[in-house]
Amino acid sequence: MIICVCFNSFLRKLNCFELDLSLVCNIMASSGVLENPTGNKALFIKTYGCQMNVYDSDKMAKLLEPLGFILCNSASNADLIILNTCHIREKATEKVFSELGRLRKLKTEGFKNGRNVLLAVAGCVAQAEGSEIITRAPYVDLVFGPQTYHRLPNMVMEATNSLKGSEINGAGIIDTDFPIETKFDHLPTDTKSSTSAFLSIQEGCDKFCSFCVVPYTRGTEASRPVEQILDEGINLVKAGAKELVLLGQNVNAYHGLSKSGKEWSLSRLIRELAEIDGLARIRYTTSHPKDMDHELIIAHAEVPQLMPYLHLPIQTGSDRMLKAMNRKHDVAFYVKIIEKLRAARPDIALSSDFIVGHPGETDNDFADTIRLIMEIGYSQAYSFKYSPRPGTPASNLEQLSDAAKSDRLQTLQQLLNEQQLSFNMRCINTSQKVLVERRRDRDGRLTGRTPFMQNVSFDGPIRLLGELIDINIEQATGKSLFGKVAIKEQYSGHVIMNKNYSEGRKHA
Ligand code: 5AD
Ligand code: SF4
Repeated sequence: MIICVCFNSFLRKLNCFELDLSLVCNIMASSGVLENPTGNKALFIKTYGCQMNVYDSDKMAKLLEPLGFILCNSASNADLIILNTCHIREKATEKVFSELGRLRKLKTEGFKNGRNVLLAVAGCVAQAEGSEIITRAPYVDLVFGPQTYHRLPNMVMEATNSLKGSEINGAGIIDTDFPIETKFDHLPTDTKSSTSAFLSIQEGCDKFCSFCVVPYTRGTEASRPVEQILDEGINLVKAGAKELVLLGQNVNAYHGLSKSGKEWSLSRLIRELAEIDGLARIRYTTSHPKDMDHELIIAHAEVPQLMPYLHLPIQTGSDRMLKAMNRKHDVAFYVKIIEKLRAARPDIALSSDFIVGHPGETDNDFADTIRLIMEIGYSQAYSFKYSPRPGTPASNLEQLSDAAKSDRLQTLQQLLNEQQLSFNMRCINTSQKVLVERRRDRDGRLTGRTPFMQNVSFDGPIRLLGELIDINIEQATGKSLFGKVAIKEQYSGHVIMNKNYSEGRKHA
């Protein structure tokens, strides 16, 4: 799936997908990357996958600014092309190799015109495949994993100096370490931010679900120190962010160290971030049910900036499959958490991930998933056919047919789409607080999101960008809401930052 619509839609996507190139450039533009006055080299980044990759691509671009690289929105004239890859589902690797095949022509053309076009593969495919990439595509210059991109400026300089002058062979630099020093100690400070900014607080995962490559590609769980996160949060808000989206593969397992050496939980961190003057909204993703502790649930009731929306994947509604997936909890445990969340914050909107066709899944198991979805009622959710990933336990088991997976996926998505549409329809004739994030090129309309992560579009002047305003919702589809600015005076208003002010609406 290629997402090429808008920034909002990718924020709504909590899972893996491909990001359109120009979209990434828009994001970079909004964070100031296009404004490097000294730049005379063009950088093109194609970002695949999750929000973490978007965050990483943004940082790579900023790291390369001092070398004079300016982001551009096309690979054709770029001096450095980076594919920031995702390995979560099948064919990722093949897609990268076919993309490299296409890009090779640009490298060859550049060579004929006396230009050295550098080609880099970053992210989880780079981490998983390493030198295999250079073996299959010797014209690639750089291969580096998610933990070493802070060394990118050095790698680029090395590649530039060591170019062998051949259109066949690239510089062949590989860095897939899990270094002791962390990249976060070397990342540049944000001077300009988008209205909604990603803030990576945790990486990797120790859960080892049967189907998932993350523990192998992103490594075991690591939390960034509290101080570093607070500094980045404060900087982002100073640079224009009104919303922080805290990122981690298993974000609610966060247990970073404070200055005094104490471990902080995610809820404690959220409460501290909520003190940042000018920060209107906080979100976090992606969470595991086992790490949804009482304090975090209570934070949803007590911290007004914490939005009433939670992406809490369960993957399947069958106890048998939860066990097979090594999810470490059963359905009753998940349902209990949802009950507690709804007791704490009755209007909370819920999202999940579902996998159909994991090895061993029967019709009965699938029926259990459908029953659970009907019981919970989701505002949106993401669903995938199980895809065997090399090196993961489930990939060695007997596989279901693709036809069976497709049938189940279709049934499941139909139900989820109905739930999403009905959730959105219930907003018609209500007023929603919308944080205005961007102006759509297509029709000039402004777009933003409700507290519940729904995308809203409406007509309004550009000065509303970055504002939190009331929108009267008039129409709804499964994907979006449409409405009008509620009160004229708000055209010149500012974001409401009163700590006692609580966003949201109760659902009927
Ligand atoms: N096959 C299908 N879906 C997967 N996911 C992770 N690994 C796989 C796989 N091998 C999905 C899970 C996870 C989301 C990020 O991607 O639902 O929550
Ligand atoms: Fe993958 Fe499971 Fe960890 Fe999520 S909790 S990142 S699905 S191993």
